[in-house]
Amino acid sequence: MTTESPESRPRLPDHEIPTIGVDELRGTQLERLQQTVRTAYDNVPHYRAAFDARGFHPDDLRSLDDLSRMPFTTKADLRANYPFGMFAVPREQVVRVHASSGTTGRPTVVGYTKADIDTWADLMARSIRLAGGHPGDVIHVAYGYGLFTGGLGAHYGVERLGATVVPVSGGMTERQVQLIRDFQPRVIMVTPSYFLSLLDEMEREGVDPATTSLQVGIFGAEPWTESMRREIERRTGMDAVDIYGLSEVMGPGVAQEAATTKDGLHIWEDHFYPEVIDPITEEVLPDGELGELVFTSLTKQAMPVIRYRTRDLTRLLPGTAVPSMRRMEKVTGRTDDMMIVRGVNVFPTQIEEHVLAEPRLSPYFQCVLTQPGRMVELTVLVEPLSRLEPGAAEQIARTLEATIKARIGTTCRVEMREPGSIERSIGKARRIVDERPKA
Ligand code: DLL
Repeated sequence: MTTESPESRPRLPDHEIPTIGVDELRGTQLERLQQTVRTAYDNVPHYRAAFDARGFHPDDLRSLDDLSRMPFTTKADLRANYPFGMFAVPREQVVRVHASSGTTGRPTVVGYTKADIDTWADLMARSIRLAGGHPGDVIHVAYGYGLFTGGLGAHYGVERLGATVVPVSGGMTERQVQLIRDFQPRVIMVTPSYFLSLLDEMEREGVDPATTSLQVGIFGAEPWTESMRREIERRTGMDAVDIYGLSEVMGPGVAQEAATTKDGLHIWEDHFYPEVIDPITEEVLPDGELGELVFTSLTKQAMPVIRYRTRDLTRLLPGTAVPSMRRMEKVTGRTDDMMIVRGVNVFPTQIEEHVLAEPRLSPYFQCVLTQPGRMVELTVLVEPLSRLEPGAAEQIARTLEATIKARIGTTCRVEMREPGSIERSIGKARRIVDERPKA
């Protein structure tokens, strides 16, 4: 009998779901991490300065535990090096850039070599497979195309998988519904909030969303709750699964939930090393504890990121559908989305659960923050699915206020708006409207 050494075992192509064991994975991660850190130190002045300031040299990196001795990277670092200062390769080798919208200050720019685009396509193909997509499927992509990573990221993944991509992008809602009817996609990739608008449009046209060809929805780019999953699955009969990613680390496809388990998102750990830290003390937390997610890229060439603070809150859990790769729990919110109302921390996702629990309300809502005096006040805007009987609006609003007070601990006012009047998005929903006076 011959024993197979890990080196002699044929490797699966990178676009398939990996079956690598944990020991081999840790070895690969360390090797790739050492390479990444060396490249970043040698080629990106920001990293050299940050490492020198910490007194840490790439040669000091001997085990994965040494990661905790390295400096963090933040969005502010990316902004300070706008536009191309974080690139580790000559600009001529960067075949594509993406950028964040930059609503607050300068946008952040990210770059990819040809090999980076190739890796991204592989990881997106893996993600779609894990979500329940197959080669040969028709896949409708309604994530925005452009500087946002959603559309093009999904697009290349569908092609790599060997499926048929319908590159619709966001917007033109009626046309989207028409295309779904005509092209019969089995899979749709879209933000969960825009998918709700597509469902409304179907219903407006008299199409029962449960009768379309769609069987799988790959939803991400914004937080969404288990209640939202139930709502979408109930209305459509589809499998609704979560996809996570961020431009600075790659784009969509950093982590993906499996359709077979729907228990959080498997991080593609052979390409991204996750940590969870206490956002205040910056201490690394053990797996299972809630904190801020931090990523180090292991294979990126154009723009390696070291200990990038995502500001997303989650916890790391053991692998299930992909045994060697850890999962991250569905993201509850971002540190920036945490509203502090009279000393109580509250995230829009917590409000979402209670809005969805009232069957007469539509799933659209917004949290408006004001500060008329010294105190911050929260008003939750909601709307009914259809016109209500006299008195019902009042009763729903007061009950929701009481539930939010009892379950989250926050005092708020719930304001009932007209059906269809709350802002719809074609991409990420704007859940918080901050009307507090600027300091
Ligand atoms: O939103 C990439 C993406 C596109 C992911 C399409 C999934 C699908 P950014 O515009 O850079 O990139 O925004 C990244 O969005 O830090 C999270 O706060 C949030 N986010 C992304 N996916 C999820 C998710 C894309 N599944 C930021 N759940 C991240 C919760 C998410 N939040």
